[in-house]
Amino acid sequence: MMKKGKSNFTVSIRYDKRLYDYDIRGSLAHVHMLSKAGIINESDANEIKKGLDLIRKEIESDKFPWNADFEDVHMNIEKRLTEIIGDIAGQMHTARSRNDQVALDMRLFVKDYTTEILGEVYSLINALINIAETKGKIAMPGYTHLQRGQPVLLSHHLLAYVEMLNRDAERFWQVLHSSDVMPLGSGAMAGSPYPLDRELVAKQLGFNRISRNSMDAVSDRDFLLDLLSASSIAMMHLSRLCEELILWSSDEFAFIKMSDEYTTGSSMMPQKRNPDYAELTRGRTGRVYGNLISLLTTMKGLPLTYNRDLQEDKEAVFDTVDTLIGCLDACAGMVSNMEINETAMQGAAAKGALLATDYADYLVSKGLPFRKAHQVISSISERALSENVDLKDFKLADLKKFSELFDEDIFSITAESSIEARDVFGGTAKNRVNDAIEYNKLRITQQLDQAEKLYGPELVSRINKIQSSTSR
Ligand code: ARG
Repeated sequence: MMKKGKSNFTVSIRYDKRLYDYDIRGSLAHVHMLSKAGIINESDANEIKKGLDLIRKEIESDKFPWNADFEDVHMNIEKRLTEIIGDIAGQMHTARSRNDQVALDMRLFVKDYTTEILGEVYSLINALINIAETKGKIAMPGYTHLQRGQPVLLSHHLLAYVEMLNRDAERFWQVLHSSDVMPLGSGAMAGSPYPLDRELVAKQLGFNRISRNSMDAVSDRDFLLDLLSASSIAMMHLSRLCEELILWSSDEFAFIKMSDEYTTGSSMMPQKRNPDYAELTRGRTGRVYGNLISLLTTMKGLPLTYNRDLQEDKEAVFDTVDTLIGCLDACAGMVSNMEINETAMQGAAAKGALLATDYADYLVSKGLPFRKAHQVISSISERALSENVDLKDFKLADLKKFSELFDEDIFSITAESSIEARDVFGGTAKNRVNDAIEYNKLRITQQLDQAEKLYGPELVSRINKIQSSTSR
């Protein structure tokens, strides 16, 4: 619908109606406080509360008359309240501006969705840990420059992503912290002449802190930038994971087979199993980066305090959380349901010159300086490559031509012994990887215990519910 016969240039209702629940909760808390503080009388407050409850029902049953003439979600709800309860509705906006109102709505939105994001991040972590535990002993090549480098445990490789995702979780806890500030009472920007009880409003809405500067409160959006940057980094991690799943499921690697649920066929080539979910996750990373740059750019030239430019924060934020949640869910599903081709992975780990570093270390143990040992093994590897054989195919006599220091015990070096030798904290040896698995499980428990103290049991049980519902 067009606005006042002009255009709908300023209208945001198409997307900001999504904030209705936060807006109504904010109004309920505000009105309650106004009546407790004696600013409006109790029976009027009750009328307003009843009207707001009715409006929520209308919205949730798709009966609410959204109207673009009233621009945004705040005005739509207030106009409708006036239709329902008459002039009393006008008292709701006492000591409030749309500026502090929208700042509140966005903070409630971010707290809500960040909770969900955390649940999804933990689900994916759990899916990865689960494979690390059940397929713990599978060896595979570790890569640098996408060239086979040294054998590692598959579980060690997957736990690298667990580390990344755990840092993502920490960043999202930080997003929760920065959005956990209640801005009502800031008014348009200077504060309010009414005797407001801001702490009461904060308490009702579950905020731990109230804003300390009214001008900052209505014009700051850095809590949204925290969300967008944490999301961009998380998407970068998901994109890298997906890139590996795509490579691993190709015929060239054949390390995994993706579940049918996450692949699609080609309309022309009947043999195809295209990894579309992984590709779309990788592709959507660009959108999320774009949203971050979009809001950073919107913000950079704004004088204090509120400017209408700030309305442009919403679509970037909504699109980001929807994209991220969808991608986290897809990744957890892909990881939990993929088939691992143990033979291909182990075979690749045992082939070629993956043990070259171990061979060099062997010569070092026999007294050769490392640089010299490196030269010797690199000549052997070159020969292996030109003759198309593996390092382990060389007979002792052949090896002795390169260095007299070789002996029978060189043949005790295998992919498994190479892995077991990396028995340093953070290394790929089995017992180190087991320790890492235990540590990562404990870390989640600790993070949730701490969150319970800060944000209460409800938030934690929501996270746990998401975790368990998405673990397949
Ligand atoms: N729809 C507006 C926004 O999203 C609400 C605040 C409007 N404030 C104003 N002074 N025009 O930012």
